[in-house]
Amino acid sequence: MSIEETIARRKSIRAYLDKKVAADDLAKIVKAGQWAPNAGPFNMSVIRNAALLQRIDDLTSQAMLASGNDFLVERASLPGYQPLYRAPVLILLSGPSDAPNTALNVATAAENMLLQATELGLGSCFLLTPAFALNAEKNRAVAQEGAIPEGCLMHCAIIVGYTADENKFRRAERGARGTVRYVD
Ligand SMILES: Cc1cc2nc3c(=O)[nH]c(=O)nc-3n(C[C@H](O)[C@H](O)[C@H](O)COP(=O)(O)O)c2cc1C
Repeated sequence: MSIEETIARRKSIRAYLDKKVAADDLAKIVKAGQWAPNAGPFNMSVIRNAALLQRIDDLTSQAMLASGNDFLVERASLPGYQPLYRAPVLILLSGPSDAPNTALNVATAAENMLLQATELGLGSCFLLTPAFALNAEKNRAVAQEGAIPEGCLMHCAIIVGYTADENKFRRAERGARGTVRYVD
C-alpha cells in the first residue's frame, strides 16, 4: 500500500471483532510509534488483558457521563456505546506531567501507529476519552495497573483490532480538515 493510500484508508473504527491481533503485527505498530518525530520522553502501555480493558471501558463511560460535557454525555448515553468499542488492544500514551512537549510527542507516535495499523489491514481509532478516567486521582490504582508511571499523565490512546463495522458510531463524513494557505 502506498503512503497516500494508507493515509486515505485510515479511518476511526468503532466496532471490532473478537479476534486477537498477531504479536508481530502489534510489534510493528509499537515500533512505528517509537520511530515518530520526538522531542522528549513518553510511555506506551500496550494493554491486552480483557479484564483490565473492561475496567478501563467502564471507568471511561462513567467519567464521560459525569463530565458535564454535552457531547461526551450524549455519546456515552448511546445504546450499546462502549468507549473502547470492544477493541482487543488499547495502547495508552503517557508522559511526564511537567515536560513541555509530552502532548506533541504522544500525538506523533499515535498517528504513526494508526497508519501502520492501517497498512497491516487493521482497524484503529485515536482516543482521548480514557484520559478522563485514568488521570483522575480516584482511579490511580487502575492507571498503575495500566503501567502509567508515577508522575505521568495519560495524554491519548489508540485502539487496534479487526474491523467489525466501519460505520458504527460514526461521527461525520470523513474529509480533509484544517485550513491551508500557501505563502510563496
Ligand atoms: C484529539 C482527538 C481526540 C479524539 N478522541 C476520540 C475519542 O475519545 N473517541 C473516539 O471515538 N474518537 C476520537 N477521536 C477520533 C475523531 O473523532 C476522528 O478522528 C474524527 O472524527 C475524524 O474521523 P476519521 O478519524 O475517521 O478521519 C479523536 C481524535 C482526536 C484527534
